[in-house]
Amino acid sequence: MFRLAHLSDIHLGPLPPVARRELMSKRITGYVNWQRNRGRHYLPETTANLVADLLQRKPDHIAVTGDLINLGLDAEMRTARDWLAALGAPHDVSVVCGNHDAYVPGALGAALAAWQPWVAGDDGHVVRDVKDYPVLRRRDGISLIGCNSARASLPLYATGYFYQPQADALAELLEAEGRAGRCRVVLIHHPPVARATAFHKRLIGASRFREAVARHGAELVLHGHTHLATIHTIPGPNGPVPVVGVPSAGEPGGKRKPAARYNLFTIAKGPKGWSIAMQEYGAATGSAEIGLIAKRQLA
Ligand SMILES: [Fe+2]
Repeated sequence: MFRLAHLSDIHLGPLPPVARRELMSKRITGYVNWQRNRGRHYLPETTANLVADLLQRKPDHIAVTGDLINLGLDAEMRTARDWLAALGAPHDVSVVCGNHDAYVPGALGAALAAWQPWVAGDDGHVVRDVKDYPVLRRRDGISLIGCNSARASLPLYATGYFYQPQADALAELLEAEGRAGRCRVVLIHHPPVARATAFHKRLIGASRFREAVARHGAELVLHGHTHLATIHTIPGPNGPVPVVGVPSAGEPGGKRKPAARYNLFTIAKGPKGWSIAMQEYGAATGSAEIGLIAKRQLA
């Protein structure tokens, strides 16, 4: 039995002081947006409260599917590195990046460098950019496969990208890990599901991702980005593959999006294949107390 926790979209605050030259880019719209919206509502206490609850459940592993930060600033990356170090050892925490981590050109590479121990695969290759994806980590019969959809996009866009070379490499990995009988859990920031987001936030190339899964299979896909609690399915060779989105770990709730949550998956090998149960933990709106919100059997 393996217990995998999933967190996403931390959007760690508060924003560090931002130099004027750092705002000469897409950051200006994000900065104004942060000051008007997220900065007022996303409090570090919300995430700290959620993480404290998660850690006392002692999961075997924690997956973080991106948007750890907001504007791709170096100072934010250092804060996020400290946050990761407090979350767990690199062996026990796997990170993929989101569009906010890659907010402006150059940010993705800097974020990957800052968080390298948590993003690298078991092979120890340095992960510098999208060409180094997917990455693979094996833990107790589980294959954690990290994909990258993060890339700088135009102001007011939050699109993700999934191009053919990564799709081909993913297909190969899914095939090999499936043949070896491992439980394949794929991590990606953007939902690889049609119409799961507004047009300007979609994953460009999502059909390439779905095609790799349809041909070679996967047991579970985890994503963030939407800040919603969703379960979709995409076709796999032996039936539907669950695609689970978790709300933001920084969201206070009471607005359009659910309050901060994490999901805890219990994965076990049974006579008929992998069984995957999911528990959702978070606070009810207006309360600070974290508790079990829902339980479901996914496979
Ligand atoms: Fe995002």
